[in-house]
Order: sequence, then structure tokens, then C-alpha cells
Amino acid sequence: MISNFLFFAPVIMGPGAVSVLEAKAKELAIKKAILVYDKGIEAAGITEKIRKPLVAAGVTLVEYNGVVPDPTDVTIDAAAKLARDNDVDAVIGVGGGSTMDTCKGVNLLMGNPGNIADYFIKPPVFPASKIGKKLILLPTTAGTGSECTISAVITDTANKRKAATRSPSHLATLAIIDPDLSSGMPPRLTASTGMDALAHAVESITILPSRWNVISEIFAIKAIQDLVKYLPIAVHDGKNLEAREKCAIASMLAGSAFANTLVHLGHAFGHSIGARLHMPHGECCGVTLAHAIDYVADAVPEKVKLVGETMGLTF
Ligand SMILES: [Fe+2]
Repeated sequence: MISNFLFFAPVIMGPGAVSVLEAKAKELAIKKAILVYDKGIEAAGITEKIRKPLVAAGVTLVEYNGVVPDPTDVTIDAAAKLARDNDVDAVIGVGGGSTMDTCKGVNLLMGNPGNIADYFIKPPVFPASKIGKKLILLPTTAGTGSECTISAVITDTANKRKAATRSPSHLATLAIIDPDLSSGMPPRLTASTGMDALAHAVESITILPSRWNVISEIFAIKAIQDLVKYLPIAVHDGKNLEAREKCAIASMLAGSAFANTLVHLGHAFGHSIGARLHMPHGECCGVTLAHAIDYVADAVPEKVKLVGETMGLTF
């Protein structure tokens, strides 16, 4: 079978990786940027770790701290207005998947007219869009892998549903994965975001045969191995940097895997439940994953067996 694999973003990773930000901002000739985050990240003192090197690089910052969980079209349009009014040449986000998807939405609107809802995918309609500005994403959770995907999930407030966008403007110019940024993440958030990463990896492997991709499978297997081993450690000992790093890289690998294959039933149900009940995405996918795998086992038994063996099960 002919298949192709795209790696969607250059990644710099490892403890202390944020230290490259000043040099990278200069290298990318960023003069004015919108820095996007939520109030929790600011309260945790993480924003300052990003602000400082950017200011040192001579970047003028406009800041948007209104990111909400399950980012909405309303907040993205508001952040994009700020970015457009200030004519920024870069969008920089530090936070979890909601922040990264907000940044992707903003960047789409920096390169294209209208509001974000104009670009929601409504199969079979996939609205076309152009690239935006430079996009730097610094994940503080290990789950969505959004730093390495070409899509975003956005709450469609008018229709009370989760919508998706897919655009070249969503491709990060640079992703910086520094486990130091996630060391303060509480156990429940660590667990739920980690389950999202696990769901990406497992659903990527057990997708329909027409979507199978050998490189995605290798990435997903490594992600599952490391999440099974290190996620419980990260949940119980959040300061364990080795566990944080393994989970962060597993999240990126799982994100890259499903960006090339897609996910399936677990996420379909998970998004529906999340939009209705406003439950965290990782918790929804953690709940639905087992049911999804049970359902697809008859269709792709050898892949379900592979997932089990990768988790250390014997049959
Ligand atoms: Fe997910």
C-alpha cells in the first residue's frame, strides 16, 4: 500500500528547551507578537518564562489571556481582532491544547479574512485558507499533541458543538516542548491529558485499514509504551522530570501519528460528550476509548492485539 507521512512541525525538546526561545525569535526576525495564554498559566508564573526571552529578543508583545477550555469561536475572534489591530507578525502560545488551538485559529485569521466560523469543516466542504504569520507553540500539558498537527478543535457556540478547522496556517513554525513547563500540572490534569495522548496513539493504530500508516504505527507504539510506563509516575510525582519528558514526547509522537491517520470512534463520541457536558477532552476520551476499541476489535483484530501487546498484555 502506498502511504505518505508528514511531520508537521520542527520540534525542539527537552528540559530547559525554552532557553532557545530568545535566539529563535531573533532568527525568525519576529518584531511584534501576540502572546496567548490563560489565567492559570499566568498565575503559575509560566508566562513570565516566555515573556522574558521574547522581550530580550526585542519582540514587542501584545498579550491575550482570555483562553478558555474548549476554546470557542467567540474567544478566537476576539484574540484575532487584537492581533489584527496590532498587525503582529507572530502568534506565540504557551499552555495546553485549548491555548494551542486558540493560537491556530488566530493565525488562520491573520492570513485570511472573516471569522473563524467561516473556516469550520462541514463535510464535504473543507474551506480553503492560506498560511498566516509565524506560529510558535509551547505546550504545558502532555496530551493533545496539537503542536504537531494541522487541525484545531473549536467550540461552535451557535450550534453547541465541537467544530474542526484544518489549514496550513495551523502548522507551527516551531514547537518547543520543555517538560519544566508541565512540572506544576496537577495530578488529575496530568492523568486526563495523558489519556488523550493514549487515545490518539491507540485510535491511530486501530483506524480503518485504508488509513494505516507504518510510520504512524511506529510513533504510536513508542507513545503507548512510554505512557504506560511513565504516565502513572507523572501523575503521582509531578516533579519527576524524566516522567514529564517521556509523557511530553509521547504526546507529540501520538499527535504526529494521528495527524497522518486520523482518530476514530473514541474521539467522535468524546467530542460529542465534551460539547454537551463540558467535560475535559482527555476525560471524555479516556472513558470512550475502551468502548471504541471493543467495537472495532472485530474489524481490526490484529491491530487491537498489537495495542494490547504493546501495553504488556499477553494473549
Ligand atoms: Fe484528543
